[in-house]
Amino acid sequence: MPPATMMTKTIANISVILILLSATPSPVTVVVEAWSPGSLFSNLPGRIGQRRLRPVPTNLCVLAGRPRKSSSVQLPEDFDDDGKITRQQKELRAVLDSYGQQREEVATITASSTFTDDIYEKKIDIASSAPEYFSPDPLRENDNNANANANNNNMYQGFESKVRNLQVPQINLPTRIAQPGVGLDHHHRAIKNLVHERILQRHPDKPQLVSAKPEWKRLEEHLKSEIDQSHLRDLLQDEHRSQNMFAEHDGVYLDYSRQRATLKTMDLLQDLAKTQKLEDRIQDMVTGKKINFTEKRAVLHTALRADRSEKIYVDDDAETNHNVVEEVHQVLDQIKFFTEGVRNGDILGYTGRRLRNIISVGIGGSYLGPEFLHEVLKTEPDGVNSALGYNLRFLANVDPIDVERTCADLDPEETLIVIVSKTFTTAETMLNARAMRQWLWDFMGNDKDVVRKHVVACASISSVDKVKEFGIDTEHYFFKFWDWVGGRYSVCSAVGAVPISLMYGFDLFEQFLKGAQSVDKHFITAPMEKNIPIIMGLLGVWNHSFLGYKTRTTLPYAEALLRLPSHIQQLDMESNGKVMTKHGIEVDYAVGEIDFGEPGTNGQHSFFQLLHMGQTAPCDFIGFCQSQHDLCLDGESLSSHDELMANFFAQPDALANGKTEDEVRAEGIEEELIPHRTFKGNRPSVSLLMPKLTAYAAGQILAIYEHRTAVQGFIWDINSFDQWGVELGKQLADNVKSQLIDARKSDEDHVIKASNPSSTRILNYYVNNSPSNSCFTGGDKYKSGTSEANPLTRISRKTHTDHSRASTTTTPPTQHDLGGNKGRL
Ligand code: F6P
Repeated sequence: MPPATMMTKTIANISVILILLSATPSPVTVVVEAWSPGSLFSNLPGRIGQRRLRPVPTNLCVLAGRPRKSSSVQLPEDFDDDGKITRQQKELRAVLDSYGQQREEVATITASSTFTDDIYEKKIDIASSAPEYFSPDPLRENDNNANANANNNNMYQGFESKVRNLQVPQINLPTRIAQPGVGLDHHHRAIKNLVHERILQRHPDKPQLVSAKPEWKRLEEHLKSEIDQSHLRDLLQDEHRSQNMFAEHDGVYLDYSRQRATLKTMDLLQDLAKTQKLEDRIQDMVTGKKINFTEKRAVLHTALRADRSEKIYVDDDAETNHNVVEEVHQVLDQIKFFTEGVRNGDILGYTGRRLRNIISVGIGGSYLGPEFLHEVLKTEPDGVNSALGYNLRFLANVDPIDVERTCADLDPEETLIVIVSKTFTTAETMLNARAMRQWLWDFMGNDKDVVRKHVVACASISSVDKVKEFGIDTEHYFFKFWDWVGGRYSVCSAVGAVPISLMYGFDLFEQFLKGAQSVDKHFITAPMEKNIPIIMGLLGVWNHSFLGYKTRTTLPYAEALLRLPSHIQQLDMESNGKVMTKHGIEVDYAVGEIDFGEPGTNGQHSFFQLLHMGQTAPCDFIGFCQSQHDLCLDGESLSSHDELMANFFAQPDALANGKTEDEVRAEGIEEELIPHRTFKGNRPSVSLLMPKLTAYAAGQILAIYEHRTAVQGFIWDINSFDQWGVELGKQLADNVKSQLIDARKSDEDHVIKASNPSSTRILNYYVNNSPSNSCFTGGDKYKSGTSEANPLTRISRKTHTDHSRASTTTTPPTQHDLGGNKGRL
């Protein structure tokens, strides 16, 4: 379909006509974008719909250029195959004629880009919405006429008068675009692009950036006129504000009163969310629309924790009756069966021993989420009891030292390797997986059943061939997930389910899913002003894009959440570390915070100095009413948990209030030290308070943060679900690997030639200064099949034989050895 036709179809109810005129006798080329507001009104109901505005071609942009030979309208779609002017073109001329103006006059009537942008953005709603859609209308705001008649019946008076007085500066475009003889198509494409890039600052089918919308501008204005004039110290005294700046759901209490925001800010942020169609986008996500548009995939991590009875279809699969929830539960059942089999001794290792060690091999999203959950459950009473006798370790880094640390003291005969990789191609994971396979072979012999009985795969369904090729039993030891599960959103799939259920039992994993599901339901159904992930997401946008805070911290006041900051770091930075909107336009606003964090109180003695006096980084404080395992020492007036929580409550106030010079002086501090001991304050935070850190609570926390990330991405108009940014580094690493292989293979003094002198230099320095311990055995160094085995093949310094023989008959204990509580905490 030609572009103009497409545009006409796309932009319902607005007649948009792009014409190139060679204006005679005037020696200018004129590009006309003609809008017909009359057609807008004719589609509105009631009185307004009956009002006929005179069609006003607007945004008529004059292009300075050499006069063209042809005086015809010249868009490719204006010509038929024989080069004759089409009906469409004649109609366009008629529109101009009916406007009753001379062409020279047409060329001087111009529209403000705000006007066209506003219309463009409102194009869909104009047809379907009530007239109040235009209220408040920026076009009316400064219009006396409109102010005088601000009632429903006169809703459009200001609008109309604005339309009559539209003005924008005329813009010159380079003469080269008007040169004849370069091919009509090319010529007009060039003009169209230039017009839209340089005049409209957007492409016809690429809507404007959110920062150009009035809702965004209002927030900017509000920041300048109100928030920049306020201090959290004063805002916090406002009783009404504090009563309204919290939200609660299923035990989760969010206090956001220490944000540099007022109730008006929240209203304006919700307006922004509405104009960005946030609720529709959330619906699109949870109902399986392919919102990951660069990979053409649905984003359905919420389906991973949906009730068995629910039905969710991936976009166009609805017709094939392909309910993804059914498949999710089939895999969960399979995982339950398998993990219970391992835990009750029905499924044994190659040598008939119980499998009590689990090594989960994976990186990024195939590691961080499960590790976060593992750390939560490690000290959770039910977790402690159900993990008795089992070991869970994670192998992520391709550094051989990680391999060594992970398995040096384990017995391979009692170890189950879980390879977690959606793609089953990630270089680090696959090398580590091969290392683990080698480790098993080294101790149990190179038999295919060693792999079949000791290696499990959690991978995307499309990786099944690669899983099989690795030697894994794909019928019983393969747990699939789907391409609609993003890596960093995958902990609720087999990625987390297999290692966590092996270690802690399936029931605890199920509670984790339930917690996440509870937040999903809240996220999908709660109104914006009460919706915890939406509030947090909107505040994220506010802090980053408006207040300019580039960094954000996650501060769990719970040691068991020690890996949460790392999980959020990947979740958020891989998701929102983007610059392109979904329309391929680069953002002109800040997107994607730098996230870091550490459990309190450790962080207080590390980076809090900077948070209090240096740069401002909005903080998320996460605390619990009850500890997983409190300590009450004799003679102490507070339990250790209360001590911890005293810090949880104090820090946000210290950040918000700061300390004034007068307050410092009143403490009797020497005058010259006063500036050094003054705290400006006004540093924002939120506090999330929950009952107790359980598997269920961990699921709630997970979902809150997953959804916060998505909300920010939706507002910013970016794709939070792809990760092309990690590809370039991978490609370059492959190049370097080839160069290293060549260097290691070479007997002579091989010189690496890299893509630039610096890389050449450092690579050669590395090769010349590292032992030539090549794995390449093509030379004479180690001959396969000879008695001279490559010593580097051995993973561990230790041999495990003695250890494994000593424990042949032992089964995992059923009671922990903490004593005193009869096997349960
Ligand atoms: O780091 C990039 C990334 O693609 C992550 O998104 C993903 O979680 C990780 O690599 C691991 O990928 P895979 O699960 O395919 O091994």
